[in-house]
Amino acid sequence: MKKILGISGSPRHNGNSEVALFRVLSNCEKHLPVATFNVSQMNVHLCDGCLACEEVGYCHQKDDMASLLKEIESADVIIISTPVYFDGLPAICKNILDRTNPLCSRIGGKEAYILTFGQADETSWERACVSLENYFEVMNIAVMGKYSFYAREKNDVANNVEILKKLDTISASIIERYQEG
Ligand SMILES: Cc1cc2nc3c(=O)[nH]c(=O)nc-3n(C[C@H](O)[C@H](O)[C@H](O)COP(=O)(O)O)c2cc1C
Repeated sequence: MKKILGISGSPRHNGNSEVALFRVLSNCEKHLPVATFNVSQMNVHLCDGCLACEEVGYCHQKDDMASLLKEIESADVIIISTPVYFDGLPAICKNILDRTNPLCSRIGGKEAYILTFGQADETSWERACVSLENYFEVMNIAVMGKYSFYAREKNDVANNVEILKKLDTISASIIERYQEG
């Protein structure tokens, strides 16, 4: 059975990205093993660019990234749920991606889903998606679905029945794809 890892890239605890991820993973966990990481609740230092990880295969920094790196390695599917900031990713989310550099040559072959939330328009959301797609391409991870939603205030997703329904549909397609494999 495939293992699903969800990562919320928002600094806002209990905001749209976390609520959406929780919705999807709550649906999935009835059928598949899941793990969740909310960057808003993690202590992760900035990547200091030392590049030593490329020699030794791990990061010298001691923080919550160690457990996330372990989960990324053992997951089959990564769902990233994040707000759009200035047509890109929040720094806290980008830093998580930068800190996965120790795994660069060993997480290829997994699959990914992208959920983004923003207050602007499709153009803005698509730019953030492209940034994530580029990351996954470098990691040799196939993006199986990307979905963007309008959301501004903290509870916009929680209060939007249409978005919640769409998240349930996305969950169902994930469950169908991975529960047998
Ligand atoms: C610094 C900052 C920059 C933002 N830039 C964008 C943007 O470029 N495009 C957009 O659609 N929304 C933008 N937003 C709005 C957030 O993406 C939106 O409020 C989102 O729902 C927040 O998700 P969260 O509740 O998971 O944190 C920005 C918000 C902040 C705080």
